Amino acid sequence: MSARRGSARPRPGSPGPQPRRKGHPTVSKPPVVPRDSDGRSLTPGRLLTVALPAGRIRDEAIALFAQAGIDLSAADRAHAGRRLVIAIPEEGLRVLIVRDTDVPAYVEGGAADLGIAGRDVLEEQDRDLYEPLDLGIGRCRLAVAEPEDRPVDEAAHIHLRYATKFPEITRRHLQARGTVAEVIKLYGSVEIAPLVGLADRIVDLVSSGETLRQHRLREVETILEVSAWLCVGRAAAKLMAGPIDDLVARLGRVVGGKRR
Ligand code: PRP
Repeated sequence: MSARRGSARPRPGSPGPQPRRKGHPTVSKPPVVPRDSDGRSLTPGRLLTVALPAGRIRDEAIALFAQAGIDLSAADRAHAGRRLVIAIPEEGLRVLIVRDTDVPAYVEGGAADLGIAGRDVLEEQDRDLYEPLDLGIGRCRLAVAEPEDRPVDEAAHIHLRYATKFPEITRRHLQARGTVAEVIKLYGSVEIAPLVGLADRIVDLVSSGETLRQHRLREVETILEVSAWLCVGRAAAKLMAGPIDDLVARLGRVVGGKRR
C-alpha cells in the first residue's frame, strides 16, 4: 500500500500551509497570485489553474471557497453556462470544469495546477499527485452490497462476481480479504447488475442509501469513506508553491480538517 492511501503522513515536498506570522493579521481577500517580498508578481500573467469536477461537488466547492474569501461564482453553472474554461483574474485563478474522473489526469499532466477529486477517484487511479487537504465535501461511502433475498455465502467457494465502476479498489479489497472473485467493470447503472444475473455483488457509492433500497440491495460492508480532496501536481507544487500554500492554508482554516 502506498503512502498515499489512507496515510496521514506528509509526503516529501508536499505543499503545506505557510505559518501565519504573529502580528500580521490575514488580509481578508488577497488574490491568489505568487508575489515576491516586494509584492511583485513572480509569475506575471500566470493564473493558478484549478480543475473542478462538474456536478454537485462544483457547487459545494464554490461555497467552500467563498467561505475562504475566494469568489468562484463566475464558475457556477448559472454564470458559466456552457463555458468550461473560466478565467477569474480578480482571484488570480482559472477554473477548468471537467468530468470528476478526469480531474487527476488534468492535474498530473500539468494542465491544471491543482484540482478537487473524490477519495474514490484518487484511490482508484492512484496517480502521482500530492493530496494535501480533505475538503470534507461530497461525503459518501464506497460499499459492497448484495440482493436482500440472495445473500452471498462466502464459505461456499462458488465463483463470485463483483460489478463496479471501481475495479482497482475492489480488487485490492478482495485481495486483502483473501477472497477470489471476478471483477466486472461497469460505467453506470451498477445497481441492476445483481438483479439481472450479471453479478452476485456490487461495489458502489452510497450516499442516502435510496438507490440500494429501490433495488432491494443491502449493504454488506463499507470499503472506503469518501470525501473530496485537494490534489496538487508535482510540477505545480514547485512552480506555484506560494499561491498553492496560501490556498491550502485558507481552505484549511475553513475546513479545519485532515491534512496530509
Ligand atoms: C451514485 C452511485 C449510486 C448513487 C447512490 O451515482 O453510483 O447510483 O449515487 O446515491 P444514493 O445512496 O443517495 O441513492 P451517481 O449519482 O454519482 O451517478 P453515476 O452512476 O452516473 O456516477
